[in-house]
Amino acid sequence: MQIKIELVPLDLLEADALIVPVFEGTKEERFGAGDLFDAGEVSGKSLELTLLHHPPGVAAKRVLLAGAGKSEKFQPAELRKVVGAAVRLLKSKSVKRIAFGIDPDYATADYVSAAVEGALLGDYETDRYKTGNDKKSVDEFLVGAWGTGPDESPAGVSRGRILGEAQNFTRSLVNEPGNLLTPAIMAEAARQMASAHQLECQVLDRAQMEELGMRALLGVAQGSAEPPAFIVIRYKPEKAESAAHLGLVGKGVTFDTGGISIKPADSMEKMKYDMAGGAAMLGAMQAIAQLKPAMAVSAFIPCVENMPGSRAQRPGDIVAAMSGKTIEVINTDAEGRLILADALTYARRQGCTHLVDAATLTGAVSVALGHLNVGLFANDEGMRDRVLRAAKAEGERMWTLPLEDDYKDYLKSAFADLANVGGRYGGAVTAAVFLKEFAEDTPWVHLDIAGTAWLDENKPFLAKGPTGVAVRTLTRLATDWKD
Ligand code: BES
Ligand code: ZN
Ligand code: ZN
Repeated sequence: MQIKIELVPLDLLEADALIVPVFEGTKEERFGAGDLFDAGEVSGKSLELTLLHHPPGVAAKRVLLAGAGKSEKFQPAELRKVVGAAVRLLKSKSVKRIAFGIDPDYATADYVSAAVEGALLGDYETDRYKTGNDKKSVDEFLVGAWGTGPDESPAGVSRGRILGEAQNFTRSLVNEPGNLLTPAIMAEAARQMASAHQLECQVLDRAQMEELGMRALLGVAQGSAEPPAFIVIRYKPEKAESAAHLGLVGKGVTFDTGGISIKPADSMEKMKYDMAGGAAMLGAMQAIAQLKPAMAVSAFIPCVENMPGSRAQRPGDIVAAMSGKTIEVINTDAEGRLILADALTYARRQGCTHLVDAATLTGAVSVALGHLNVGLFANDEGMRDRVLRAAKAEGERMWTLPLEDDYKDYLKSAFADLANVGGRYGGAVTAAVFLKEFAEDTPWVHLDIAGTAWLDENKPFLAKGPTGVAVRTLTRLATDWKD
């Protein structure tokens, strides 16, 4: 999809269809639409879509009235969905050239960016491996920016393209099946992205991980014929305005069978998305490379396949993590925390002053929060507030769950410093408490995205499958950073 910007009034935008948001409680009189409001056929409620042909007074061939809800509640997040839903409807009708004229009331870079992102996110499909020729996609998205500030629209279009592409890059990685995205292939994708965007990239192999003492990570990897890979990507600003160094740690389990504590067959195919945290970090790094924040940001992505091979680790095995702490592996399906333990230690030793991890860590987070909120845990209030602020600005819902010292009792082991599971209750919390032992005193936020990284049903504005959650928040966390 090509994205263009044009500085002409709305009525002169030439396109197959023009998207026009309409608000609840107001009446659109242009395009001959007044009658539709009078008849109650159009109300402006959120995501209501009404297509008009040969609208009078505009160059576009069609006008799509796109319900935008109450104008008081119209944030960039709402516009992202409105444009996404509009693009998906038009695309299904084989409309190729779509225009959107931003209203001067909403002509800030954040709204323009959200509109462009909505178009890119809505256009994305997960049909890469379908061979038919009935695939539909939009050729052109034209942003009409008449009456906006001189800098706001170009800046917004550029940011929107960067963020939309970064999220779709993440989604395309998450969508890859386990046979076609092994740890080695994920590392290769990281290398390619890094070289295309002038980022430093290093991939540690098994021997290097052994040298570093990453035995918690290696214990998970040993059940698979696919060797593990530890991706490290570094962004350094030309002129740092902050002494802080942000570390982004992402779970990269390219397929999670559960290992010897094997998962039931039902829905196991979905466990290809168990690298969504790692993929989110790759997407965020791609956006960060282009938006160039004034702080150092590094990504650490341990990639493994969790398989029950003949060398697989057993329940009861004890491993010494890189930090020196020993772990009794009660359940081999709680593998994410094991690989993240070593990744957090490595990130700290690489000089990161602040850490965020994202991981499809527990089924329990969906029990607690459903599929609407990311589960957020923090060992530091300042860091928590930074992430929550970024998430709010980006319309990504995150909800803080507790991380109190008392929960540590749940992880007691008779034979090692820690057990890797905490029993029946509070599963998302005990997983976070386990990670906290490895974040130690570094300000850190843990995002459990198991409930939000995958959509089971199509949304009007997003295809079912990977969502790309956390990419926007992590990017904004870096670009908005103030000491
Ligand atoms: N990858 C899973 C968590 C998961 C479950 C992600 C469902 C997405 C959807 C993780 O490795 C896991 O298996 N966790 C276990 C932990 C348990 C053994 C303590 C879980 O949630 O059941
Ligand atoms: Zn697991
Ligand atoms: Zn897992």
